[in-house]
Amino acid sequence: MTQTLGILVGSLRQNSYNRIVADTFRSLIPSQYDVTEIAIAHLPFYNEDLDTTQPPVAWTDFRQTVQGVAGILIFSPEYNRGVPAVLKNAFDVGSRPRGQNVFAGKPALVVTASPGAIGGYAANNSIRQTLTFLDMPTLQQPEAYIGNVNAHLSEDGGKPHFKPDTVDFFSLIVERYIAFFERLTS
Ligand code: FNR
Repeated sequence: MTQTLGILVGSLRQNSYNRIVADTFRSLIPSQYDVTEIAIAHLPFYNEDLDTTQPPVAWTDFRQTVQGVAGILIFSPEYNRGVPAVLKNAFDVGSRPRGQNVFAGKPALVVTASPGAIGGYAANNSIRQTLTFLDMPTLQQPEAYIGNVNAHLSEDGGKPHFKPDTVDFFSLIVERYIAFFERLTS
């Protein structure tokens, strides 16, 4: 059976570097997997009261979509040394109601990118901490802090794309993630 991998992107910006990172990773995933981006921008902020009365359809649809994927790849910027609110909200929505965490057990990959030198290190570690609580086994190595992300991009030929050395690094991460994913799911 074809396995589906879900992608979460923590930036809503049209020309987001993290989206270019996500798209590049997506292009490197072996073709026997289906890959789908799971939208998070439209999710109302988590409010426990709504789960006990009438959960928004956007939440129930999101939870169902997450339930349908076998692994999750996360690409995110760092905001003020932390996780962008839109991404944290998606984790919160998927983790509830209590006892119905749809993320549990899904092998995860965390990649952060920033024009800054430390590549979103703080956000990456904060996301990992949340994934631990969500009971998601997460690829430990290689770590993926893409610092000075703009310097790794070339605009030769139009659309910005990553230079070959960077793509080689991304390929290694994908290879390790797929091996990790297969170990846990087959
Ligand atoms: C940032 N940025 C940033 N960068 C960083 O390395 N560490 C940080 O703590 C922050 N904090 C921060 C807060 C807010 C509110 C914004 C809007 C930006 C800069 C950030 O890395 C930069 O804008 C990236 O381009 C955002 O990623 P995308 O949107 O290009 O994927």
